[in-house]
Amino acid sequence: MPVNSKPYLYAIAFLLVTFGLYNYVVYTTESYIAVEKLSPQAVKGQQLFQSNRCWSCHQLYGLGGYLGPDLTNVFSDEKKGPLYIKAFLNSGVKSMPQFNFNEEEKEAIVAYLKQVDETGIYPNYDAKIEATGWVKLKYRNE
Ligand code: HEC
Repeated sequence: MPVNSKPYLYAIAFLLVTFGLYNYVVYTTESYIAVEKLSPQAVKGQQLFQSNRCWSCHQLYGLGGYLGPDLTNVFSDEKKGPLYIKAFLNSGVKSMPQFNFNEEEKEAIVAYLKQVDETGIYPNYDAKIEATGWVKLKYRNE
């Protein structure tokens, strides 16, 4: 034991207080954009998405299985959209099983994919390298 350990205690206390203040500032200032909450219908859709293992073949934001395509923006894609999504759920394709969802369940999955779609674009190629060296992405809600 050092004869006088107090300076260390002060240093640790100082670091803890600074860390606390830092977190307070980061999470309460306006620049912190809280994640938008899913509607109850979209939550149901998310549960169906998980319990039916859509993840094993599909990705959202590039994460997931790779047998099927990424579904991040399938809702707003001009050539796709809600009816298109439902058509896939109704009939399936060669490597995608047919799901026997009722209308309410299909609506819930569409609502989930709609809210996912609103969060951004994937893959996002609309990026610029600024003079500072940081990469600036253009987001959907800007
Ligand atoms: C066993 C793998 C598998 C599972 C599980 C699966 N899919 Fe698919 N899905 C695919 C494949 C492969 C395609 C691409 C078919 C094609 O384009 O020929 C596809 C296509 C789609 C499409 C059309 C996408 C586009 O951009 O054209 C949607 C929407 C979709 N799936 C939704 C779902 C949902 C929702 C679930 C869960 C309820 C699900 N899939 C589960 C394999 C799967």
